[in-house]
Amino acid sequence: MLELNKQYNFKIKDVGMNFEGIAKSDDGLTVFVPGTLKDEQVTAKIIKLNKNYALGDLKEIKEASKRRAKPVCEYYSRCGGCEAMHTDYKNTLEIKKEKVINNIKKQGLDETLVKDIYGMDKPYYYRNKVQYPMINRNGRNYVGMYEKGSHDLVNNKECYIQDETTHKVARRLFELLDKEKFVGYNEKTLTGDIRNIMVRRGIHTDEVMCVLVVTDRCFAKDSRMDKVVKEITKEYPNIKSFVLNINAKNTNVILSDENVCIFGDEYITDKIGNYTFKITADSFFQVNTLQAEVLYNLLKTEMELEKDKTVLELYSGVGSIGIYLSDAVKDIYAVEIVESAVEAAKENARINNVTNVIHVLGDATKETLKLKDEGKFFDYIVVDPPRKGLDEQGIELILELAPTKIGYVSCNSATLARDLKLLSTRYDIKEIKMVDMFPWTSHIECVCVLELKK
Ligand SMILES: C[S@@+](CC[C@H](N)C(=O)[O-])C[C@H]1O[C@@H](n2cnc3c(N)ncnc32)[C@H](O)[C@@H]1O
Repeated sequence: MLELNKQYNFKIKDVGMNFEGIAKSDDGLTVFVPGTLKDEQVTAKIIKLNKNYALGDLKEIKEASKRRAKPVCEYYSRCGGCEAMHTDYKNTLEIKKEKVINNIKKQGLDETLVKDIYGMDKPYYYRNKVQYPMINRNGRNYVGMYEKGSHDLVNNKECYIQDETTHKVARRLFELLDKEKFVGYNEKTLTGDIRNIMVRRGIHTDEVMCVLVVTDRCFAKDSRMDKVVKEITKEYPNIKSFVLNINAKNTNVILSDENVCIFGDEYITDKIGNYTFKITADSFFQVNTLQAEVLYNLLKTEMELEKDKTVLELYSGVGSIGIYLSDAVKDIYAVEIVESAVEAAKENARINNVTNVIHVLGDATKETLKLKDEGKFFDYIVVDPPRKGLDEQGIELILELAPTKIGYVSCNSATLARDLKLLSTRYDIKEIKMVDMFPWTSHIECVCVLELKK
């Protein structure tokens, strides 16, 4: 029987959902040891113990895997940003593919359907948006990434996954705010001036947007804020937008819906492929611009679209997939539940001269039912749902509508596999491909095309 705070030797048998090594204790209990790899012999201290599993803190690697690598980042062991830097990039892709295969197998589907995984040639500095909390403890301000499983911050002077400009601008903003005696937020006392420093950059346009999440609108007229804005825009002339987001609520949600633009425009732009997108302080935009292009191209190619066909796009967000597919089909009905996303989607269609997308605000399943009752027919259905996947009624409706092809983009291969199993009663699954949108983390995006059985 394992005991808390004691050290044990383990042989790592597998790697789990979050890149943590998995071992078994002598009496068969599952033990997770983060930072370890398959086949390694390790010593770990038990720091959490319950009926179903134990958590081990890695103390020593007695026999290292051949795939073990020295993390490039000196903050890796503490920082909550990455999970996979203790192995080489190629192995992270192999592990991600294996996780998708396991989820497919669990549903009794054919694992050979899982094909290529598209990694990045240079898997660094890929995030186009940084969000650092600014906190105050005992009268001192701090900035940085959250530590793994904690509310403390790592003062990460560097970050290997964050676009270099956004990281530098965010840290410089912190210095300037600190110099002007602005106070970081204190979660316990719910006091302070600045809660978050967010910086976005258009990777193709080099336009930068700064967003400070502040607790009071009065900071928009504060002369100290003027100084900060003047200094940062002098140092970084590519800053095209500076916005204050006013969020005084006791909430974990970072942004409120109240924005005040205090410099430049309310938005910046960037491109995915040939298409331009407006990015506001609170709009969703794929954080890895280059891989978003790979993902959308893959979907478009795999779907083998025909020009006279109609598409139903569910969970359409700010409309990037619809815009991408628009020149290859007759028209697209795009359904999205968040009003501001629908407004952004309309604007994105407008600036790209896309006139064949019909935007529908509402719940994907309810709106699909309405469209079906109106007698609409769709040749293709494309879905990009949140992590929980499609709902059962939604799947039934898709099966009833019986489009000739379904394109499924998924950020969660477990719910993708569950949904594919249900859809496979009437559809052949062509293949499942993967795009690594978030190198060094456990996330993986899947693209799958299904064809109506003859
Ligand atoms: C993975 S994102 C898709 C992003 C989209 N492809 C884009 O380019 O913006 C999932 C989207 O589903 C939306 N959503 C969540 N629940 C929904 C529902 N019940 N009905 C319609 N849309 C929903 C979310 O607001 C989000 O925009």
